[in-house]
Amino acid sequence: MNIGVFDSGVGGLWILKHLKEKLPEYNYVFFGDQGHVPYGPRPLEEIRDFSETITQFLIEKECNIIVIACNTASAAALKYLRDKFPDISFVGMEPAIKPAAESTHTNKVGVLATPATFQGELYNSVVERFAHDVEIYKDTCDGLVLEIEKGNFEGTNTRQILETALTPMLECGIDTVVLGCTHYPFVVPLIKEIVGENVNIIDPTSAIVKRVNSIILDNSFESKSALDSRIEIFTSGEKERMETVASKLFKNKVNISKVQWKDNFNLIMLK
Ligand code: DGL
Repeated sequence: MNIGVFDSGVGGLWILKHLKEKLPEYNYVFFGDQGHVPYGPRPLEEIRDFSETITQFLIEKECNIIVIACNTASAAALKYLRDKFPDISFVGMEPAIKPAAESTHTNKVGVLATPATFQGELYNSVVERFAHDVEIYKDTCDGLVLEIEKGNFEGTNTRQILETALTPMLECGIDTVVLGCTHYPFVVPLIKEIVGENVNIIDPTSAIVKRVNSIILDNSFESKSALDSRIEIFTSGEKERMETVASKLFKNKVNISKVQWKDNFNLIMLK
């Protein structure tokens, strides 16, 4: 049994790292769609097509659980993929509005996510269900995903984008920030510097790991020894780019292969 994980780029590596730490006895296949990153400004239909093709790729790699380690792809495709591939257990992401609404004291919460995530039905339904009496301040942090893709977790541009997003929210009195994009945990140290100690930052990674664990337990999926388990990484972009961030996260060298999009529905493996 393999666990598939995909994202538009390196954001999902953060989730992969935590999955591998907590559930080391499984094989992981990661797909980073760096040929198309960022997903955030793209139409939802296009992101759904990419997600379907990547899912097909991961199914061919014998993945029974697929983690959509991307809020944007989950907004665009989670429901569609569950309907289309009923035998696969999908774990999707939604901005962690519920825990934020439960823990805020000022009733003011900041949410950082991509434009496509804010447009999706998933986001609106979560707000409606859990946060109708909370004031939400949204920001799309334009350009931040690409800075993180370059491994720029603390440079001037990254700081400027975050300050522009967070300063007005702080002036309005937020006490909680929701990371609604899987690229953003990489810049938590910088976010902490900007917002200070009294603002709670919510990263949904541990909730995703728990969810995967409970699917494994429910289905009694077979495990292997942690020593035999492996991680394979595929990117539709430049291998070096994936390597820059992957080498910061994983102690051992991971195997990275390149794939290329032929069109939105076909991927070609490159040697
Ligand atoms: N990491 C993704 C997310 O969680 C997508 C970022 C992007 O490609 O715009 O939303």
